[in-house]
Amino acid sequence: MSQPQTLGKYQIQGLLGKGAMGVVYKGFDPNIARPVAIKTIHASLLDTEMGRELLDRFRNEAQAVGRLNHANIVSIYEFDQDKGTPYFVMEYVEGHDLKTLLKDGRKYSPEEAVHIVAAILSALEYTHKLGIVHRDIKPANVFITHNGQIKLADFGIARVDNAELTQMGSVLGTPSYMSPEQCKGQPVDARSDLFSTGVVLYELLVGKKPFSGDNTHAIMHSVLSEDPERPTSKSQAVPKAFDAIVRKALAKDLNHRYQTAAEFRDDLQKAVAPSSTQSNNLVMIAVVAALVLALAVAGGMWFKTQRDQQFAQPGVETTDGKLSAEEQAKLERLIKVAEAHFKVGRLVSPQGSNAFEAYQLVLQVDPQNSAALEGINRVKNRFFKRAQLLALEGRQEDVEKHLELAESLFPNDDRIMLLRNRVNEQ
Ligand SMILES: Nc1ncnc2c1ncn2[C@@H]1O[C@H](COP(=O)(O)OP(=O)(O)OP(=O)(O)O)[C@@H](O)[C@H]1O
Ligand SMILES: [Mg+2]
Repeated sequence: MSQPQTLGKYQIQGLLGKGAMGVVYKGFDPNIARPVAIKTIHASLLDTEMGRELLDRFRNEAQAVGRLNHANIVSIYEFDQDKGTPYFVMEYVEGHDLKTLLKDGRKYSPEEAVHIVAAILSALEYTHKLGIVHRDIKPANVFITHNGQIKLADFGIARVDNAELTQMGSVLGTPSYMSPEQCKGQPVDARSDLFSTGVVLYELLVGKKPFSGDNTHAIMHSVLSEDPERPTSKSQAVPKAFDAIVRKALAKDLNHRYQTAAEFRDDLQKAVAPSSTQSNNLVMIAVVAALVLALAVAGGMWFKTQRDQQFAQPGVETTDGKLSAEEQAKLERLIKVAEAHFKVGRLVSPQGSNAFEAYQLVLQVDPQNSAALEGINRVKNRFFKRAQLLALEGRQEDVEKHLELAESLFPNDDRIMLLRNRVNEQ
């Protein structure tokens, strides 16, 4: 079908994409001069016995969803028909959908994944309380806007069950994100959305879908009967707490699953909180911070003394390169300092008390120290992940600051160039 020039009062400005239900256009509302996204429903879907019933359903859903008002939900403005073509008018989202961003098996750090999934869960907490189930949570329906907001699209909109789609000869989307009860064609409730959100979480952390197969049938079989491998067995960067969270979110039996979005989100936030083992109360954070500071000062002073001594007596360094027990103990303390900095996110700043510097101090004394070498790697990985997320969120100034820091601290890292290219492309 060629692109219409208008739909109702809306001017059609271009094609945004195609989905199972129909085509999505970029449109313009001339009355209030704002861009919109317009999702049209494929005529073939309505040329059936079910057509009329479907139209009523779309209208009812649009009325329910049109009342939603949440920062993480793409708003629906209108549902209407023009010359036999039904269409939904929605908030136009400037950004990228997560399906595009997850292409090529890209992984996200636990912090980034929680940032994204917690926003999805906030949206779900809000709608579930109103009795509205999304039924199609998947990366294609999650957007990251240019200013870093997460938005869930297609809320309750124009949902057609698999059986109906098949009957109408339409192609079913991937069942990879469907809950077991959806795969079985049983009725779904809020907990089905939480299962699908669990699948998205898994993919963000691991870079792969938990349930896969060569065809629809094989994928559904995997959803119904296979337990995915633990995220920690697929990626070292994932803290242990995520194994239990993913297991609970992806429980086949919906009574064993998270029962509410809030419960799921709380567990995620605890898993990445600085003091994740217990509670993330502020006192705990303050204690850790104070400890870090004290250890850093002590570590710094020790190193300064060490260096002064070396300068004063250049010949005292152990000739065979072996460290005394006392030096070894001090290095271990310094590693603990670095790890504490890392835990609270002080990767390369503030100057004088951060993980990178503390590891560097260790390496200056013991250049082969494996804990410090590995620590520096972890600092760099997390630093670049952070910068990538900022780039995704369109926070150019912050990305620039990260790039400047990286250029002065680890100028030979290839990721600097990759990030520069990405920034220049935007
Ligand atoms: N509100 C919106 N603002 C901007 N782009 C959008 C919006 N809604 C959808 N799109 C774009 O239009 C394309 C098609 O969306 P659509 O919802 O039809 O398909 P889908 O979500 O990929 O699959 P499905 O039909 O199974 O939901 C997507 O690639 C998406 O990027
Ligand atoms: Mg969609």
